[in-house]
Amino acid sequence: MKIKDKKILIIIGGGIAAYKSLDLIRLLKKNNNEVKTILTKSGKEFVTPLSVSTLTRSKTFENIFDKDSEVEIDHISLSRWADLIIVLPTTANFMTKLCLGKAEDLATTVILASNKDILLVPAMNVRMWIHKATQQNVKILKDYGYLFIGPEKGEMACGEYGEGKMSSPRQIFSFIEKYFNKKNIIKSKNLKALVTAGPTREYLDPVRYISNESSGKQGFEIAEALSRLGIKTTLITGPSNLSSKKGIKTKKIITANEMYEEVKKCLPVDIAVCAAAVADFKPIKKSKIKIKKSKINFKSIELEKNRDIVEFLGKNNKHRPSLVIGFAAETENLNKNAFSKLRQKNCDLIVANDVSKKDSGLNSDYNRVSIIDNSGKIKVIKKSRKSFIANIIAEIVLDKLLINDRSFN
Ligand code: C5P
Repeated sequence: MKIKDKKILIIIGGGIAAYKSLDLIRLLKKNNNEVKTILTKSGKEFVTPLSVSTLTRSKTFENIFDKDSEVEIDHISLSRWADLIIVLPTTANFMTKLCLGKAEDLATTVILASNKDILLVPAMNVRMWIHKATQQNVKILKDYGYLFIGPEKGEMACGEYGEGKMSSPRQIFSFIEKYFNKKNIIKSKNLKALVTAGPTREYLDPVRYISNESSGKQGFEIAEALSRLGIKTTLITGPSNLSSKKGIKTKKIITANEMYEEVKKCLPVDIAVCAAAVADFKPIKKSKIKIKKSKINFKSIELEKNRDIVEFLGKNNKHRPSLVIGFAAETENLNKNAFSKLRQKNCDLIVANDVSKKDSGLNSDYNRVSIIDNSGKIKVIKKSRKSFIANIIAEIVLDKLLINDRSFN
């Protein structure tokens, strides 16, 4: 479906590919979209304000805090006006500024103040692109939620060949179309998700309990990533020090049984992501009063199994979500064990996380995961921030849901 009536803010960066912004503007305008532009100081070396404003049929904002521009439209309203912000071309230097959260001119200030998605379109020499510093910046920016298109492989303006060539205006236009179509579909389908997170506590008496090291971070990040995509998200979490973002309905529980009851209340949903480290068992008896040391049976605690929540969802006849995603924390035979859990609990996807290393997994900002689907296909994600992994999971969820939706293509 063609896009129209969208408001696109293009920040024209300083690179030889800046001239291609004119073609993109033309494509967007031809399809009846509104375009505003900010011309950075170095962008102005490559294209003129006159050529840009002739195509946009509106004033080009220059990359300084000039009084006239700020009176006409300030940096906050400019970022609120846009449905999408595009930085084209995105230079290596500009990416560094975004990583640092700089607000030194109109372009960087609009971006920092933005509550909209921002699409970066990198273009640079191949060596600059593959430099560790740039690649590290890309990781950080993806983690912050910036969208990327390209760069492509090809011959560059400098004569060298490799990855670093900017995506073509056609490719960018088609990316923008897909982006808005996805948003429309999510909105029209009124998609709902539930995410479980954190540990549960299974009490022996009012003060002693069985639990685990889960911090809830991965689940909180997934709830945030789904909500950012426009999916109505409920987070059901065990005890955690984290607080969830505005817009995410959050239910706090303590025990596995309470989590199960809240999950039931939440149904029906389209997506269930069970990232919680639910205690597999609980003491059969919970004493109403603190057990006296003299009365403790040091030899044994009688335990019983907790209800398996993800299995309840996966095998639910009445309200099975279209997508049920489980987690499997493993210290050995990661993929094999995770896949058999997927089968046993009838999940569509399972996120296997390697908890054998101390620098990632439970109670860490980082994770190492393999995402396995029900045909056994595996996507491995090396050690990354949990927010980065959450964005990937959210995108996979969306692709899986929309794959058969013909209106998307
Ligand atoms: O079998 P195991 O506990 O390793 O499985 C982990 C997966 O099962 C996670 O997705 C976890 O949230 C879910 N689970 C559950 N209810 C339980 C135990 C685990 O939903 N009682």
